[in-house]
Amino acid sequence: MSEQRDVVPGFNRSDYPLAQPRMESVYGVVFVTMSARTEPLLECLGSIVETLRELVGGDGRLKLLGYQKVRYNTNWKSYTDNDGYHAPLLHQAFNLLNWQGGKGRQFTSTKRGHIGFESELSVARGDTMLEDPSIIEFKGQDPSVGSRIVSLFPTFVATKHLDVINLRFATPIDHERVEVHYAYFAHADDDEEMVRHRLRQSSNLLGPSGLISMEDASIFHRIHIGNHTPGAAIFQKGVRDKEKIEDEFLQNDESGNLPRWEYYREIMGFERRAA
Ligand SMILES: [Fe+2]
Repeated sequence: MSEQRDVVPGFNRSDYPLAQPRMESVYGVVFVTMSARTEPLLECLGSIVETLRELVGGDGRLKLLGYQKVRYNTNWKSYTDNDGYHAPLLHQAFNLLNWQGGKGRQFTSTKRGHIGFESELSVARGDTMLEDPSIIEFKGQDPSVGSRIVSLFPTFVATKHLDVINLRFATPIDHERVEVHYAYFAHADDDEEMVRHRLRQSSNLLGPSGLISMEDASIFHRIHIGNHTPGAAIFQKGVRDKEKIEDEFLQNDESGNLPRWEYYREIMGFERRAA
């Protein structure tokens, strides 16, 4: 063959095949890895898979509503640092919408840096500042009143707030920008009214015009600017033992960030500094 002349003698194209990805899925969410060393999916996820099941409607029989994407002016690590405990503390939108947080917990199920977040979230009685409060109406069933977040290391996040079912994936553009792709879903059993409700609620809360995401964009950028200040960010709220990374955290403890960065440190080969 003519092309055989272009390579060194003894070259055998079968020694250089395309890499074979491995694929597994759970509750309709497909995971792909190019690594032969990655453990089986359920082992990698641990008990967080139960939170994912609740998040995708109990069985994962979802119907895609559409996509949106947002570029945040922040480093991807700042983006992933802030999902979870910050929402009821920081977001003015939660106050404007009259949302109130109840009991909740954060947890990690393996040493892979994944974080699960389960909490109660409801719309308080009383007026909101919205002319049309129907966008924050909750039409689902318990326990889905609760907020559910599954944050898988390094950049996958799935959230369910009110009736919004959202799976998102972040891609770093460079060290100062990250692009986040939001995919919105309805459940296969939803009637037409519920589908329209989820669609309205999704795009009003998340994405380029979402009340929550617009605040995130502002906050992420401020954090990114602040991160140029010399020094180190130290997570302390909820830390009971500086030598130990725990696997269960209260809803508003910032120590819920630590398993992620412990795993990051490990795979990057960074030494842990003495406490
Ligand atoms: Fe946020």
